[in-house]
Amino acid sequence: MADVIVGAQWGDEGKGKIVDAISGNYDFCVRFNGGNNAGHTIINEFGELALHLIPAGIFHPHVICVIGNGVVVNLASLWAEISEVVGHGVPLTDVAERLKISSRSHVVMPWHIVFDKLQEQARGKEKIGTTSRGIGPVFSDKIARHGLRMGDLVSMKESDLRSWFYKEFYRNVKIVRTVYESIALGFSREIEEESGLVSADPHFRELMALRDVLASYVCESEELLWEAHEKGQRILLEGAQGIHLDTDFGTYPYVTSSPCTPAGALQGSGLPPQALTRVIGVMKAYTTRVAAGPFPSEMDEKTQNAIREKGKEFGATTGRPRRIGWLDLVILMRSARLGVTEWAVTKGDILSRTNPLKVCYAYEDEKESPVSAFSMAQARPVYVEVDGWGDALENSREFNAYLQMIEQMTKVPVRLVSTGPQREQIFTR
Ligand code: IMP
Repeated sequence: MADVIVGAQWGDEGKGKIVDAISGNYDFCVRFNGGNNAGHTIINEFGELALHLIPAGIFHPHVICVIGNGVVVNLASLWAEISEVVGHGVPLTDVAERLKISSRSHVVMPWHIVFDKLQEQARGKEKIGTTSRGIGPVFSDKIARHGLRMGDLVSMKESDLRSWFYKEFYRNVKIVRTVYESIALGFSREIEEESGLVSADPHFRELMALRDVLASYVCESEELLWEAHEKGQRILLEGAQGIHLDTDFGTYPYVTSSPCTPAGALQGSGLPPQALTRVIGVMKAYTTRVAAGPFPSEMDEKTQNAIREKGKEFGATTGRPRRIGWLDLVILMRSARLGVTEWAVTKGDILSRTNPLKVCYAYEDEKESPVSAFSMAQARPVYVEVDGWGDALENSREFNAYLQMIEQMTKVPVRLVSTGPQREQIFTR
């Protein structure tokens, strides 16, 4: 059986905390989408760190952690993260035994990162505000069939790999020089130099060195998961980002480039639909979003500042301040319809002593969440004011009423409530 964890808003809902708290009940923990654009913050007996690629189950010694086929892998970032996890007390031999990388996952190349930055610059005022990790370009290359998969990386002869790499490197350098320099009046030279996209040699050497250290982690992970499923083992599928950053169902084009829905968990792991049992949608008691894109329930600046400080609302990957809004039930109702079977609510403690609270339950003149980012940017939220609560959440009448409102509007029960950043600060309902 497999359970899924997805973000139900625009990412940063606290998925890392929830996965860390519950993944000890599973045999496998599998990342199925995104790449090192994600930042899953963990605080437990090993200390505090933000994971970007390694599944958050890594701190439970019996859990096999899989970087699934739907993930894109930045090798240097993964190797640094392995060292960080080891630095926090998980032995390298243990990581090497329990961490698996799908042979079908794609490799982030140096030019993807350069393109990400160039594309953002060329967008001018319409920047998406990407994490600059090359995510859009690597997924574009995957779909355009220009990518390199982990399985190819580790099985190809060095000479074949070299031919492929040099061909792709210079094809991409040519695109940078012709397309972007002509569009943007020479800005690319700077990025080109800064990124080192000048000679293929050092990049190829780095690729070979990382291949050597990571090769033993690569396997046909879907087969591992099929077997686990057939044996009745328990699998937790850990999503990155959030449903409203999904390429299809999010606020396109202000989205990420991989699937963030429960359905994406299947495609990104290889598990069959009948394996799924629960889909846990992680949601904050309010709403946040990083960078550009429509955000109907965004608060006034003063309230945002207060909550940002209290809730440490700064990106775990980029450190950027997050935009803050009131709880938006319209987007949560859509997330529910995409397959969430229960909610895990986080950060109710950050709203303690804010009184009254506003909750958006509809957009004026809109029956559903608007399709286009343009019309969503025009959406006028309709609010109800509700009573706030004090510091103790578990027995608070007001907090319970808040959760009941979420349940009634979304028709999905709240099962888990996180009351602080530590692993044990959580209760079930
Ligand atoms: P990209 O995924 O780097 O291409 O960025 C696309 C959009 O998704 C930007 O608005 C990012 O801020 C947002 N994004 C990507 N990853 C995360 C995340 O882990 N949390 C929150 N927002 C994210």
